[in-house]
Amino acid sequence: MKTANVTDGIYLLTADVENILFEGIWPVPEGVSLNSYIVKGEKTALIDGVCDWDGVPETLYELLDGINVKIEDIDYVILNHLEPDHSGWLVNFKKLRSDFAVYTTDKGAKMLEAFYGITENVHIMKSGSSLDLGGRILKFFEIPNIHWPETMAAWDEKTGTLLPCDAFGSFGSLKETFFDDQLSEKEFAFFENETLRYYANIVAAFSIFVERAIDKLGDLNIKIIAPGHGIIWRKDPGRVIELYKRLASYRNGPGEPEITLIWGSMYGNTEAAVQTAIDGIENEGVKVNLFRTPDDHESFSLASAWKSTGIVLGMPTYEYRMFPPMAHLLDDFRRKKVFGKKAFRFGSHGWSGGAQKELEEITEKMNWDFLDPVDFNGKPRKDDLDKIYKQAKKLARQVKELSRRNPLAKANR
Ligand code: FEO
Repeated sequence: MKTANVTDGIYLLTADVENILFEGIWPVPEGVSLNSYIVKGEKTALIDGVCDWDGVPETLYELLDGINVKIEDIDYVILNHLEPDHSGWLVNFKKLRSDFAVYTTDKGAKMLEAFYGITENVHIMKSGSSLDLGGRILKFFEIPNIHWPETMAAWDEKTGTLLPCDAFGSFGSLKETFFDDQLSEKEFAFFENETLRYYANIVAAFSIFVERAIDKLGDLNIKIIAPGHGIIWRKDPGRVIELYKRLASYRNGPGEPEITLIWGSMYGNTEAAVQTAIDGIENEGVKVNLFRTPDDHESFSLASAWKSTGIVLGMPTYEYRMFPPMAHLLDDFRRKKVFGKKAFRFGSHGWSGGAQKELEEITEKMNWDFLDPVDFNGKPRKDDLDKIYKQAKKLARQVKELSRRNPLAKANR
């Protein structure tokens, strides 16, 4: 764990965590940071905590020494969000302290009891509630469903610092770099990519709430955004706000003029048509993001699908229905609300089709607009490949047109 001075009286305590599945699902090959904050007035508040991965709570306490704070100096524990990646340390903290006051929302208080059995000295905050630390006042705003329904953001008016926990966060270890003004453009690109994957995996299903939160916080003169994961934005907080607006805008379907092509194949017959589909798309100058299921984790194809305007699925029929890994993948896409996409499917069948029928059932409520599929018996013949090429090219043309309807898409800025 490491510490850094964010601004006058606000300190970052951060731990990079690697070699885990975030939420027990999502791989983080580039790691993820867990950011906790100390805010000092005459009283001292600790805002959000860390999980108990890898002895993290103990190292968090060791860091307090470096900023002249002892555990017994912490007067207030502010819980913006109760998901255990931020609150798991309470189990450990309770063993050291029995007299701390907690500030959280009404729903947060219920989770606090459910997860940790804490019911004493819990203070309920609503939008507009405040906490006087002496010399500075923290104000709170409920920002529900970023990421859970109990979530709030803390606001330090004295320094213009917003502490919104999951909102404006990203995957990616911080290592020795904590602030946006320390990043090269290459490092920005890294964090932008890790923000997309974090957003698609964790936040995407709640995109309408992201838009509402950005509206709600819009009147604040934000100078610093200090999230629960990822970089602290003190040079240009507007940059991450604009990024989150863009990511939320993909919820309607039109995104970047790109196509995510996901394929799975049993014996190479569907695979034999994949390059033809790529050629048809690229002939229109549209970028293809390629994934194989089940080999590539859905964390990555989900992130790509979230930003892409078009989806191509290459899969065979398997026992009258979809190739099972693709069915699982699309179930995840439905849960994460990957809606409104232009789509096309091709694939092989042995004795009977059926994949397309189940595909249309699964995507019925996702508002995907499908071109006619190309379903072939056994291996693809020239005629099948010609049809796939034409449909892929047609989809690419539609994707270019539809993407122009999203003014927030990166390609349109
Ligand atoms: Fe970082 Fe929803 O927890």
